[in-house]
Amino acid sequence: MKKIAVLGFGVVGSGTVEVFCKNKEALEKKVGDGLDLKYILEIRDCPDERFRDKFTKNFDDILNDPEVSVVAEVIGGVKYSYGYVKACLEAGKSVVTSNKELVATKGAELLKIAREHNVNFFFEASVGGGIPIIRPLNQCLSTDEIEEIAGILNGTTNFILTKMIKENMGFDEALKIAQELGYAERDPSADVEGHDTCRKICILASLAFGRHVYPDNIHTEGITKITLEDVKYCESMNSVIKLIGFAAKRGDEVAVMTCPAVINEESQLAGVNDVFNAILVRSDATGDVVFYGKGAGKYPTASAVVADIVNALKTDHTTRSMHWEDSAQDFIIPYRKLSNRFYVRAAEDRKTVEDIFGEVRWLSRDGAPDNECAFVTGELNEAVFEEKCSKLNVLGTLRVLDY
Ligand code: HSE
Repeated sequence: MKKIAVLGFGVVGSGTVEVFCKNKEALEKKVGDGLDLKYILEIRDCPDERFRDKFTKNFDDILNDPEVSVVAEVIGGVKYSYGYVKACLEAGKSVVTSNKELVATKGAELLKIAREHNVNFFFEASVGGGIPIIRPLNQCLSTDEIEEIAGILNGTTNFILTKMIKENMGFDEALKIAQELGYAERDPSADVEGHDTCRKICILASLAFGRHVYPDNIHTEGITKITLEDVKYCESMNSVIKLIGFAAKRGDEVAVMTCPAVINEESQLAGVNDVFNAILVRSDATGDVVFYGKGAGKYPTASAVVADIVNALKTDHTTRSMHWEDSAQDFIIPYRKLSNRFYVRAAEDRKTVEDIFGEVRWLSRDGAPDNECAFVTGELNEAVFEEKCSKLNVLGTLRVLDY
């Protein structure tokens, strides 16, 4: 009989418990042994009667129980989870988690501790919710040299942008619905300011390029400044706005960024709507592979957590390929050295714009006021673009990306 524990009984935690209990018989066949969910760590008083005998408020009950071999951490944040996860790994228990903040900030250290104790630290649910991406990247594409990864990695913001683009819905109303559906983080600024996407692209970049990419070193922009006017101008050039996280290898260095971007309708990423996520992986031998599915929500995320539990239960040694080195951040290219095309909306006349930017592609929308214009620049260095923009009355800017 193999015994597990779940830390946290929020949206993902309760989903994990439900999926585990509902599919227990099938999971037992996969593991080849009986399974028991022995504890659920939760500070609230018995939030679900069905699992009354499993709740504990004392983490030590789990840590000191030698029968528990796998622990699922679904508390979120770093404050409590980091200490709990570290202690479990050091006690010889494998840990699985959906916690992108924990993996993005402490991944290298926790993977190292897992190796030292011959256990596993798995985190399939931390990126793309129910989409299998960590294991495919780590195993199926392991013979390839990864050149680039780009993705829509946040369900909440993609849901909001879809509502704005397809239903002309305002930002606040769309966010409220995303919260009600259980997609958003407890503090939704992590979603809308781009930090959640940033953490996820950092995890993918760390895994793909073998060195820890820390979120604090990555230029990150969210979607709070996007307006329906921008949506309309982009529509006029057959494009949509998506929040994109990308990481690209450039020699020995890596370019990583999170930003809202203008994407042509023909891109595989453009048709990804609502809570769905998509991750494009470009590698030398395989070319482009796109992973698509529900990127947030109770059951898709819980499914990935339970799959990791099963994997951890089936494995009696560290999966050595699931690893990256800690490192200095000198391999990250400062974003001001990167180049892009840019979309700009400004309260300015065309002549002034052309004096500064030279030839641009002009855009139009119905009902635009006389003093408003919008255009797309040629390829420009980020620092040069910022300098040019400082001479205009800019209302909004976006990068134009070719995926
Ligand atoms: N808040 C996250 C999202 C949850 O909307 O994608 C899944 O990581």
